[in-house]
Amino acid sequence: MAFPPGFLDELRSRLSLAALVGRRVRLVRRGREYAGLCPFHNEKTPSFYVVEDKAFFHCFGCGAHGDAIGFVMRADNLDFLEAVEKLAAEAGLAVPKSTPEERERAQRQKTLQEALEAAAAFYEGRLWGSAGAAARDYLKGRGLDEATIRHFRLGWASADRHALKRALSAEFPLPLLVEAGLLRQPEEGEAYDWFRERVMFPILDRGGRVIAFGGRVIGAGEPKYLNSPETPIFEKGRVLYGWAQARAALRLGGGESLVVTEGYMDVIALYRAGFKAAVAPLGTALTEAHLAELWRLAPEPVLCFDGDAAGERAAVRALRRALPLLRPGQSLLFASLPAGEDPDSLIRGQGRAAFEEVLRTAQPLSRKLWELAVAARPLDTPERRADLERRLEDEIRLIADRAVQAEYRRFVRERLYEASRASRPPFRPAREPRRRHVSNGPPRPPSVPGKTQREVLLGTLVEHPFLILDLCEEIAALDFVEPELSRLRDGILAIPDLENSIDAGDLRSRLMEVGLGNMVEALLARPMVRTALRRSAREQPELIRLRVEAALQLLRRQDRGELAEAENAFSVAPTEENSNRLTRLKEQEHQRHEVESDDRDEHL
Ligand code: UTP
Ligand code: MN
Repeated sequence: MAFPPGFLDELRSRLSLAALVGRRVRLVRRGREYAGLCPFHNEKTPSFYVVEDKAFFHCFGCGAHGDAIGFVMRADNLDFLEAVEKLAAEAGLAVPKSTPEERERAQRQKTLQEALEAAAAFYEGRLWGSAGAAARDYLKGRGLDEATIRHFRLGWASADRHALKRALSAEFPLPLLVEAGLLRQPEEGEAYDWFRERVMFPILDRGGRVIAFGGRVIGAGEPKYLNSPETPIFEKGRVLYGWAQARAALRLGGGESLVVTEGYMDVIALYRAGFKAAVAPLGTALTEAHLAELWRLAPEPVLCFDGDAAGERAAVRALRRALPLLRPGQSLLFASLPAGEDPDSLIRGQGRAAFEEVLRTAQPLSRKLWELAVAARPLDTPERRADLERRLEDEIRLIADRAVQAEYRRFVRERLYEASRASRPPFRPAREPRRRHVSNGPPRPPSVPGKTQREVLLGTLVEHPFLILDLCEEIAALDFVEPELSRLRDGILAIPDLENSIDAGDLRSRLMEVGLGNMVEALLARPMVRTALRRSAREQPELIRLRVEAALQLLRRQDRGELAEAENAFSVAPTEENSNRLTRLKEQEHQRHEVESDDRDEHL
């Protein structure tokens, strides 16, 4: 909206930017400026400056820059108008409504919103009253407790075609209720309630105000979910279910992931399981406006769509839509759910750890793009690789940001190079160029040194024995931590005729012969192993190889972190236990060096 001339200047001049910023950032005076730690990125030394007499801030670290309005927009995740309103209230200025039409529109929207709020309260009351017993049972049956139901303000619309109309018509005129999407006005006859016999899910705007509903049948019936029609305050393609609450959760700053699901129930199940930053579009594909809303909350939202063909299609569409919008640091991650599951069903069936694993193994957009392209064709000849490169280049060209685009080109070149090495007969494991002094910050804590990853790795090897021969040195050098897993690994490597390209069935019967049958069965029955194998069953061997190599590399890096940690532990407390651990890790490290120098000699 356009403000009368001078209004914004007046607003800025009434505010002290340093005072405004100073409420969030500890500022230290430096000459004519103030400096502090940037609130918009993580830093240890101040590169964030406030220039009071010019009324702007600037961060030399992340490039954040703006005036008081820009600061509030960023710091509070508000849009321009919201930020102006907030600042005007602080400065004691009334925000002018520049034309009578605009004033009237704003007033109308406010009234529509009040009607929706009244409806939400009505449906909520119905759910907790005697009419709502069946709906309450339904929700309990889906694993929701009272606190969760109340938190999401779920409600019940009964079968009575005029229940809501009767309840609200004293307070709101009927045409307004129709405009709010609460009543349906047929061409002839009386208006009646839009939602009947449905569990009601209020949909909130960024400020937490009710602007629409989704309603779910609890028995059989079509459609399963009915949403409010579009209204002056509800534009489906811009709204995400759960947004306001996700913002609140992310502000607490526990390093949580922002998870994007397909459905209302997924958002609620995730919340209940402690993943409080979850959102969902309202049954439509993710739009550019949705992506913008996501990136207001987090730089790398994790798309976690259903584990079926439709979910995969939705993810691919979102990927294509995101490409032009990628920026340094701003992207998407893609999680992959077991076939037939959505986040709600996975958490209920396998618990929150299973979902954590799904998040942890989410792929960066770059990787997803690559794998989509590779999945279409084998990569075993120069011509096919060139074809792949051309197809990828067509996509990369869509990336508007130059720096990101350049990095994508580099990424694709490196993967193609790996693929060409991997396809040379006889196969040798492709390695990343060795870096001499790897020191990327402090070593990771060794608390859970990837037990699941090791299980998945072993399971994959059992299912795809062609990998074992190529990667046997690395597999031999890896610490499997659990004695059981190590025993299985040793058993696999000890199988005499690995060379003769045995298949998964052969391998399993060999392992059975040496008494490892039960262990294999138990391993393959692990949920995460099953998930990984289901995925790999659909993949090209080349891709499986790349994935296993990446896993090996990751685990090795983790083990090195563990070595540093063990050295430290031993120097602090030279106990026998610490000494044994250190010796074991050092031996492994030594073995690895031997493997690597062998490899180097061969390439000379
Ligand atoms: P799903 O059917 O995956 O939703 O549709 P869900 O949350 O898993 O459903 P249940 O309750 O567990 O069975 C995903 C989303 O698509 C929209 C809704 O927004 C739903 O949350 N949808 C679905 C509709 O708008 N209409 C429909 O008929 C079905
Ligand atoms: Mn579901």
